[in-house]
Amino acid sequence: MRTPMIAGNWKMNKTPAQTKALIEDLKKMQNRCGAELVVCPMTVSLAAASEALKGSNIHLGAQNVHFADNGAYTGECNADSLKELGVEYVIIGHSERRQYFGETDVTVNQRSLKALEAGLKPIICVGESLEQKQQGITKEIVCMQTKVALLNVGAQIENVVIAYEPVWAIGTGLTASPEEANATIAAIRGAIREVFGAAADRVRILYGGSMNAKNAHDLMAQPEIDGGLIGGAALAAEKFDGVVNFN
Ligand code: PGA
Repeated sequence: MRTPMIAGNWKMNKTPAQTKALIEDLKKMQNRCGAELVVCPMTVSLAAASEALKGSNIHLGAQNVHFADNGAYTGECNADSLKELGVEYVIIGHSERRQYFGETDVTVNQRSLKALEAGLKPIICVGESLEQKQQGITKEIVCMQTKVALLNVGAQIENVVIAYEPVWAIGTGLTASPEEANATIAAIRGAIREVFGAAADRVRILYGGSMNAKNAHDLMAQPEIDGGLIGGAALAAEKFDGVVNFN
């Protein structure tokens, strides 16, 4: 009932020319498992990506969006510009944004509301730190992050994607076990259900954190895991292929 999604978060990698080259390779890839595919290049590479993706069924995502329409926000990017470039999705609140750029649950909510208002679909990232995991408060942390991020989202909940990314698993080679990730994602869905009722069953919740060709099958086999947000393994066509064709 929920279409799986595999999204590549390219982070601060791939110039516009490299973006075009990687997309040309991705367009040759099969998609045997039928997941919706998304690539999220750097802001400066979005125009090249949009052009290269024409005629393909790979969707385009950005890595951030500002919460104001426009104005004195040096270095930021507004939703209208992303729309104009053909962007459909936008990653919001990635742990690297929270860690290095002062992103908070409140600004994640503001950015998500602006994205939705502009017709962009946010991929909202939540996840616990290693310390929080060791304290046994993973579910409390991710449920609170989710509820704050979704404040005032209302009927637009259907256009939201959540990515559960344990911070300790990002870029480290460590992954949550499939069962552990499934249980945390079930808790996140429970938190969404408390606020939005049955619509929670239509919200896609992805897993992210060192997902690759080796572990994708077992993660995707879990009933609550609706796909993956892929960092390192999204930067080369053959690696991404291994995740996309996980069966
Ligand atoms: P990773 O990154 O796959 O390299 O761990 C995932 C992410 O940060 O979205």
